[in-house]
Amino acid sequence: MTDPQRTSLRFAPHLEQLPPSAIREICRLVAIPDLRSLAGGWPDPAVFPTEEVRRILEEDLATAGRQALQYGATEGLLELRQLLAREAAAEGLTLTADQLMLTQGSQQAMDLTAAAFLDPGDVAVVGCPTYVGGTGAFATVGARLVGVPVDEDGIDPDALHRCVRTLAARKRPARLLYVIPNYQNPDGSVLPLERRRRLVELASRYGFVILEDDPYGALRFEGDPLPSLAALDPSGRVILARSFSKTISPGLRMAWVAASPEVLRRLAVVKQYRDCCTGNLSQQIVLGFLKRGLFEPYLARLRAHYRAKRDRMLAALDRHFPSTARWNRATGGFFVWITLPDDLDGEDLLQEALKRKVAYVPGRPFHVDGSGRNTIRLSFSQSDDASIDSAVADLGAALRELAARPRPPAAPRTARTAPPRPRARKVSRPPRKAVPGRKPKPKPKVERKTARRRR
Ligand SMILES: Cc1ncc(COP(=O)(O)O)c(C=O)c1O
Repeated sequence: MTDPQRTSLRFAPHLEQLPPSAIREICRLVAIPDLRSLAGGWPDPAVFPTEEVRRILEEDLATAGRQALQYGATEGLLELRQLLAREAAAEGLTLTADQLMLTQGSQQAMDLTAAAFLDPGDVAVVGCPTYVGGTGAFATVGARLVGVPVDEDGIDPDALHRCVRTLAARKRPARLLYVIPNYQNPDGSVLPLERRRRLVELASRYGFVILEDDPYGALRFEGDPLPSLAALDPSGRVILARSFSKTISPGLRMAWVAASPEVLRRLAVVKQYRDCCTGNLSQQIVLGFLKRGLFEPYLARLRAHYRAKRDRMLAALDRHFPSTARWNRATGGFFVWITLPDDLDGEDLLQEALKRKVAYVPGRPFHVDGSGRNTIRLSFSQSDDASIDSAVADLGAALRELAARPRPPAAPRTARTAPPRPRARKVSRPPRKAVPGRKPKPKPKVERKTARRRR
């Protein structure tokens, strides 16, 4: 086949600036022999429920085999939707089966939501930092991404308020807010109840929808569960996405999305033209899991498994990292988020780490405003204890070596300390005139160096 780069193919203009996913690019490094990867937020295959899945397939395929191998309804198996709706009721979320649809991973819920609500140039507001799969999904439809600061308690509602008010005043209203309220990827933050309420109020007042992405909520190590934003929303503005990827298996590509009947119908019509329906075989497996009551005991095992890894990583960080670095406690989920001293760059550190055969994800790609250069994300989910210990020890050594090197006295702001103003990254095709709060900024030296290296 001819190399498309040498033909005159014309790609959709708003895709031209779409960066590859930083996470998926770094995960390609796992091919390096002996690499200890703290990069991917992948579940630990050692705890995949292979025995349970084998039993379900054996028993249920005998009765439901024909249905499992056939096309199905776009919304998914009715029995599974009813079951999920009943479980949601137990946590105070009142849903009927027609408010719920099975999707191919929660990534598809993001794609469908983007397609249903965003035109090229529309504003999607996201946390700084936030998950690149969410920002990427909005970018693929040509949305303009505006970042608001995230602190230890997730999105700052005062900053969000200022941001959406400014956008409304400039006649570029926010259309969508993307939130990961529980153990956010990448920084592990949990949005407290009061902030959840404020976000829902702001959505109603300023007329945007909220996409609540919650793949990690079930992996809670400490504290009590908090109500979802969807459960606090009287106005039907919240779209909730939950996934089985971090619990049962990402290979099944099974997640569900819940919304008001009107919104759900719209998402279902988009899905009809994307993939017809979610894989029936995967749905049968999840249905078999839930019907047999296997999920809760399995979750308890997972929580203990990942909590022990979290503890191991925190202990290793205490031993090997300098006191100039700060990190979160990770009360659930898969990630420890580290803030390095202001003048260090997570991408420079990665080069040092790779020399020692350690990988992780630098923090900057999680920031749509280009901040966060001095942050990094470590995942403890997939590594065994010995690898966590040695990888963190080597990373600590790499950090000390980098810190000891002479470098320009740059003082970049992290997202945690950045001013709470709406800042936009242009990811859509139209040439921008006025973006609220954006000022042209000279690129700091380190950034130029990194850009050169990438080329
Ligand atoms: C916050 C967040 N949302 C969504 C996803 C995608 O999950 P799924 O496998 O359900 O598409 C991930 C995966 O890492 C994630 O971290």
